[in-house]
Amino acid sequence: MLPVLVLTLCVLVVVSLPLWLPKGTVALRMRVFAHLNGHEGIPVPGDLVGAAQFKEVYSHPAANGRSRGAGLSDLFWYWLSPGADLHQEHLEAGDRYEEIAHTTRRILGVPRTRAEALAERCSARALNGIHGTRLVRLRDLMMPAWAEFYYEVVFGERCPPKARDLIVDNADDVVTALKCCGLRHMDRRDRLTRFLIDRLDAGGLPHELPADLSTRERALYLQGTFFNTAIVQTSEAVAHLLMVLAQHPEAQTRAVRDDHYLDQVIEETFRLYPLFGIAHRITTGEITVSDGVTLPSGSVLCFNYPAFHRVGFEDPDRFDPSRWETLSARDANHIPFGVASNRPCPAWRLAPITMRVAARETLKRFALSTSASHTRSMPNRGPCLLAPRDGSRRPRHAPLAYLWLRDRWEDLTRSVVQLVLGTYMVRDARRQRLCQRHFDARKRDPGAVEHLPAAADGP
Ligand code: HEM
Repeated sequence: MLPVLVLTLCVLVVVSLPLWLPKGTVALRMRVFAHLNGHEGIPVPGDLVGAAQFKEVYSHPAANGRSRGAGLSDLFWYWLSPGADLHQEHLEAGDRYEEIAHTTRRILGVPRTRAEALAERCSARALNGIHGTRLVRLRDLMMPAWAEFYYEVVFGERCPPKARDLIVDNADDVVTALKCCGLRHMDRRDRLTRFLIDRLDAGGLPHELPADLSTRERALYLQGTFFNTAIVQTSEAVAHLLMVLAQHPEAQTRAVRDDHYLDQVIEETFRLYPLFGIAHRITTGEITVSDGVTLPSGSVLCFNYPAFHRVGFEDPDRFDPSRWETLSARDANHIPFGVASNRPCPAWRLAPITMRVAARETLKRFALSTSASHTRSMPNRGPCLLAPRDGSRRPRHAPLAYLWLRDRWEDLTRSVVQLVLGTYMVRDARRQRLCQRHFDARKRDPGAVEHLPAAADGP
């Protein structure tokens, strides 16, 4: 009797693992991260600063430190390396930042019709390779399209397959490490840097790049902003959008024929799945908030996008694109591209235009359905079933059941992997102190160029 009971109990534990283990490991991971990183951040909205003061504090001129003085920065620099010291997002205010930000704006100033035509061509190429009914991961499907798109935006010429593959390898490696689903592979990143250096040496660029940067620094600037951030962000944004449509068949049917409605779906997707979980700033002076609270200089402010996007919306967890019929993004607690007065995303105009085109191209060809989970960080890369829109309506129950089962079990193994690799990377980032070392070297010699290690700095 006892062995049967033990066996039954074991089977029950194993079968129920997907229901409780992922949640448990995520909670444990958060505790391990908080322990290793320290509790240095002030959450906004939070106890000290409420949602009503969110934009006021975010827009304050003293909320302008980006990297120096926050332990968290060592982790970001580790994930974005090599070249985090040249990444626009992590540069402190000053001449170098201004020059780089100006260059980024110029490169992204693609006329609308050209951007639409290019996005159409690049997404069509990625989608044309899919025949019949197929299970795909939306993020993986989209990455080659955006690699080709941004290569052409930067270099003004068609993207060779070799460059596309190097860009995808680089962007995928960064985002996989950021989500703690894998370790860094610096060799993949360095291969792209070498390719970009050679491409810059060959000349014939349509844009001028910052004059005071060396060729390697220019390559790293392009790699960080265009061949990492742009590719990752756009691929993830389109994957979220298509996942939402796959989960809401009635919205999908309407979006196929109604562009205005598709725009509302995009807005609602940004609200529910903002690409930034938290954006941080280090205060460079005291901030006195209108409700009387004073935030001292050197505070690390952690602006929580998903929390802010829930305040002031009726039934905030419900997916409801029609709320944007009467609501303007400007008047709502809705900042998918950041706040206008404090370093907003330079692609706030271009990204939605190109996302719309990619979604239209996909919907034109395929009916989308999914049974996989959809979370903001989307570590499962958006598993989805694509079936030809005009093709025979083969039953989809079996592939969707398979997808559901696979997703739950992957969730289980991934949560353990994330716990182990995340802990390792947080510790390794603290050991390497890439950001702190950079600023220490500058303090000793303001003119010094700190050469942060590239391939040599481990996984
Ligand atoms: C749908 C796609 C995208 C979304 C939702 C998005 C979102 C954001 C957000 C919220 C910020 C501000 C974070 C903060 O305040 O710290 C930001 C900053 C930034 N984004 Fe994007 N982004 C997207 C696509 C892109 C693309 C295509 C590029 C290409 C170059 C890009 C480059 C940057 C850069 C360089 C910054 C830093 C700006 C600065 O500090 O001056 N983003 N993005």
